Amino acid sequence: MARTDNDSWDLASSVGVTATAVAAARAVASRGPDAIIDDPFAAPLVRAVGVDFFTRIVDGDIAFPTDPDADGPQLMTTMMAVRTRFFDDFFTAAAEAGIDQAVILAAGLDSRAYRLHWPAGTTVYEIDQPEVIEFKTRTLADLGAEPTAERRTVAVDLRDDWASALRAAGFDPARPTAWSAEGLLAYLPPQAQDQLFDTVTALSAPGSRLATEYHPDGGAALGQRSRVISDAWRDYGFDVDLSELFYTGERHPAGQYLRDHGWQISARTRPEVFADYGRRYPEAESVDSMRDSVSIIATLT
Ligand SMILES: C[S@@+](CC[C@H](N)C(=O)[O-])C[C@H]1O[C@@H](n2cnc3c(N)ncnc32)[C@H](O)[C@@H]1O
Repeated sequence: MARTDNDSWDLASSVGVTATAVAAARAVASRGPDAIIDDPFAAPLVRAVGVDFFTRIVDGDIAFPTDPDADGPQLMTTMMAVRTRFFDDFFTAAAEAGIDQAVILAAGLDSRAYRLHWPAGTTVYEIDQPEVIEFKTRTLADLGAEPTAERRTVAVDLRDDWASALRAAGFDPARPTAWSAEGLLAYLPPQAQDQLFDTVTALSAPGSRLATEYHPDGGAALGQRSRVISDAWRDYGFDVDLSELFYTGERHPAGQYLRDHGWQISARTRPEVFADYGRRYPEAESVDSMRDSVSIIATLT
């Protein structure tokens, strides 16, 4: 179903499905001798969501369906392994530099607040839709998982006044912050993306850092590719049109926008980030359009 201004979801519907999908990919990517990530919470979280298609993937009953011509089922899991590791390393480096306040925007089923080695005294804020936050908190508590930092949840829509909600949860704008916006931008309308970065900038003390990734074509490539993936999933009985969840069309390229607002940018293309972690970006035509995706780390000077 197409997006509307005030739509909301749980982890089995609409945009929430994408959080379950990437967690399923992380579960699979965490296995095997040459895994570059280790997310022990991804599989139990996905099973708890209870969507049969994703449960079969994490249980190994089916391989992750993706484009038929692009390295087969490994593509989705490799993409998620590389992306997850990029953001893991971002938070680890920020913590090593002494940043002890982190904000995970659109946290979904991300379990970094439970699995990374945060220095003592670190506070990790997680922002997402209320049903997503509530589900993850409850499920991980039921599993006996303990956060490895002071974890604070902020259940709010990122198109609304999330800054007030974050401050009410104890966020301190005078302290440098490590922010992540992972797998988020294309799900926000262009104006909401600008507002997101304006708010992050306003709440960031000098020395703050931000990691994100974006598609310079405004998400058209993402829309096109997600139609291919939706078709592959439909063959396994899971019928969701992922391309309807994005806002495509003109938007400010995230890197340039942040640069214009005082951030220093370090940018890597997707094949470069793959290579950083010893992976080769596939040659297949169907993933060519995603080659230009950019991962950035921004620092507020
Ligand atoms: C592809 S998932 C990524 C989740 C997580 N960052 C990860 O990589 O595992 C997209 C996430 O964005 C969240 N999201 C998208 N739009 C949002 C909004 N307007 N407000 C709050 N959360 C939003 C969804 O609920 C979902 O958890």
